[in-house]
Amino acid sequence: MHSDRLPGHPHIAYLGDELFLEETPLSALAQQYGTPLFVYSKTAMLTALAAYQQGFAGRQVQICYAMKANSTLGIIQLFAQAGCGFDVVSQGEMTRVLAAGGQASRIIFSGVGKTRAEMRAALHAGVGCFNVESEAELEVLNEVALGLGLQAPVSIRVNPNVDPQTHPYISTGLKGNKFGIAHERVVQTYQRAAALPGLSVQGIDCHIGSQITQEAPYLDALDRMLDLVEAIEAAGVPIHHIDMGGGLGIDYNGETPPQADALWRKLLARLDARGFGQRALMIEPGRSLVGNAGVCITEVLYLKPGEQKNFCIVDAAMNDLPRPAMYQAYHHIVPLKPRTSPPDTWEVVGPICESGDWIGHDRTLSVQQGDWLAVLSAGAYCMSMASNYNTRNRAAEVLVDGTQAHLIRERESYADQIRLEHLPVLTQ
Ligand code: LLP
Repeated sequence: MHSDRLPGHPHIAYLGDELFLEETPLSALAQQYGTPLFVYSKTAMLTALAAYQQGFAGRQVQICYAMKANSTLGIIQLFAQAGCGFDVVSQGEMTRVLAAGGQASRIIFSGVGKTRAEMRAALHAGVGCFNVESEAELEVLNEVALGLGLQAPVSIRVNPNVDPQTHPYISTGLKGNKFGIAHERVVQTYQRAAALPGLSVQGIDCHIGSQITQEAPYLDALDRMLDLVEAIEAAGVPIHHIDMGGGLGIDYNGETPPQADALWRKLLARLDARGFGQRALMIEPGRSLVGNAGVCITEVLYLKPGEQKNFCIVDAAMNDLPRPAMYQAYHHIVPLKPRTSPPDTWEVVGPICESGDWIGHDRTLSVQQGDWLAVLSAGAYCMSMASNYNTRNRAAEVLVDGTQAHLIRERESYADQIRLEHLPVLTQ
């Protein structure tokens, strides 16, 4: 049978006149589970992970999946079973890791606004490390740990002031960002941390941004981190691990980010050259492990040709796929069953009552009402950022493994949505 692979998506291909994910025809899943529907390839996720594992072969590393990219239990379980730890940014995320069978000792807890309650829960659970983001947080964590008679393992997130050359909303390692501790204050902050009895200094951490498509920002950040490690250790505080965060980009629309294995071989060579070859490492990849493993299937509800624009109204919307509305992000949109009739140019939009509810501008598609489309690169930061805006139920999710499909999240119901609300008895 004719097979036509989609560039950048090795696990998605047209076989005959049907779009397949691995060996599963996507139309069968749309039929069975309804739309909008997220579908993920197990092989794509494990292949993406394997690139990191190969890059680190023979080194002491903990790969902590940044689960904010996709926090569904079935996805977490897959990465836990493949040996990953997890980067979490809330007690909610930690709860998910534990519910999916992940180990607390392999969790690192990041985020600029951890509450005391979250710190207590994480200390009770025994998380591996807190990535502390401010001097004020350091003092509070010390107090909370002492209150429980425990010591909190800490790493301090430093802001290396490196431009990751990505969208401003997702660059995090520049001076003007809210993340991390300024370069100039790092050594004294480590000295303070080392003096606090409720803390045990473990490592150093940075994360410079997301959807990074070049290697230079990583090399710059690594050099600055190593300069800092030298300075901190010279001031008498040993650093056991170096955490380089996440951020590696994916191919949404022809971008050519470095491959994880090649990037890490370069970074490891730099570590070796500077005498840090034996140092334990951590990384926090999110998007690059799941982004191109997922698609969102949507049905064409109506076609509305117009004088200025043709609208293709689909049943997925900005509540399911928030990235175009939030970051003007591009996602490929392709038919599940291509038509041979000549294409038109369409604005692909959702049913939500906002002009910002668009999924793709100016797309060349041959479509008819009732067709199914697949929005690609939908594995990361789609379902995890989905909302109930317009009281729309959040979509169902399916994990594909070869010819097998597992429902990993049921479609939300209206009863689920109104369950927590009360109708007060108001005085007339
Ligand atoms: N570590 C920390 C501390 C982070 O803040 C993030 C992402 C990561 C790791 C994982 O980064 P990744 O490997 O996924 O780039 N919603 C945006 C992306 C926000 C990223 C936030 N932090 C989007 O849809 O593009």
